[in-house]
Amino acid sequence: MSPFRTRIFTVTVAALLLAASCTAWAQAPIVIQFSHVVAADTAKGKGALRFKELAEARTAGRVKVEVFANSTLYKDREELEALRLGAVQMLAPSLSKLASLGGGDFEAFDLPFLFRDRAAFRAVANGPAGAALLQKLESRGIKGLAYWDNGFKAFTSNRPLRKVSDFQGLRVRVQASRVSTAQMRAVGAEPRVTPLSDVYADLKDGLLDGEEGAPSNIYSQRLHEMQKHLTVSNHGYLAYAVIVNKAFWDGLPSELRSKLEGALRDASSYASSLAEAENTQALERIKASGKLQVYTLNADEQAQWRAAMASVYSDASAWINPQTLRAFKAAAGPGP
Ligand code: LMR
Repeated sequence: MSPFRTRIFTVTVAALLLAASCTAWAQAPIVIQFSHVVAADTAKGKGALRFKELAEARTAGRVKVEVFANSTLYKDREELEALRLGAVQMLAPSLSKLASLGGGDFEAFDLPFLFRDRAAFRAVANGPAGAALLQKLESRGIKGLAYWDNGFKAFTSNRPLRKVSDFQGLRVRVQASRVSTAQMRAVGAEPRVTPLSDVYADLKDGLLDGEEGAPSNIYSQRLHEMQKHLTVSNHGYLAYAVIVNKAFWDGLPSELRSKLEGALRDASSYASSLAEAENTQALERIKASGKLQVYTLNADEQAQWRAAMASVYSDASAWINPQTLRAFKAAAGPGP
């Protein structure tokens, strides 16, 4: 080959290599890391995986979603800080945990005996009151995209819990919500705010006597193996908001963002549709394990718990906007 031809050849090869690497760069997928703290085999875990599947298919691989279950990327509190800093892009924390993002009004969802059933929760979350709370997160650099259901909480403990006096002195794990801590104090228990990832070990090590949670989490975190009693009390409701880092989300190309919004809508319906059956099945499995006694409060006992916990509403008026409380009560209708 002549020197001239060699040069042309070299330049052409270099140009082709450059073009190939530019194309590869242009096609590098946008990565969404989606972190959560529960088992993959729960309604939330399955909803996150469904979002991954739909988002990747509908964007033809331009977006890659990496799901991290069971606190493998971040624990409860860390994940919220990581989201604000943009170190992770998507989370689905329980509503109780959003108070730390300046969303103190989210704690209204924790008020005891507020929801008589799942429909009452959905009327609040999917109505104007729920939308107004998600909007409030924006000033903290977070965008709230959807609410996901879990279900009613139960108590587990190392002694039977039927009467209000049974709570006296019990060290009970709660999430980081002032409403949940006030609820435990109202019945004479000692609230212990603990990340979900530590509850099993703390029960095992005797640092906790009990905890409150949805049966799907109790079973999948194996908390029933560390406890002797479970009370079906339906005193509170566990649910989530799917939230993203706002700068990241707003910076996505708009056609991708709308495909992701569609994928999330469908994943949200899927996750919420699974929640009730997952909890029913988890409770059955807990009973079948023979590891603990399961007791359901009767109407009289429930009325006594409700009366004892009523003071939480006046406590919470110190930090929850009265307008939010009124909107919640109006949308939820009468309690149980
Ligand atoms: C808990 O900490 O008990 C829950 O928030 C866990 C969850 O995300 O369901």
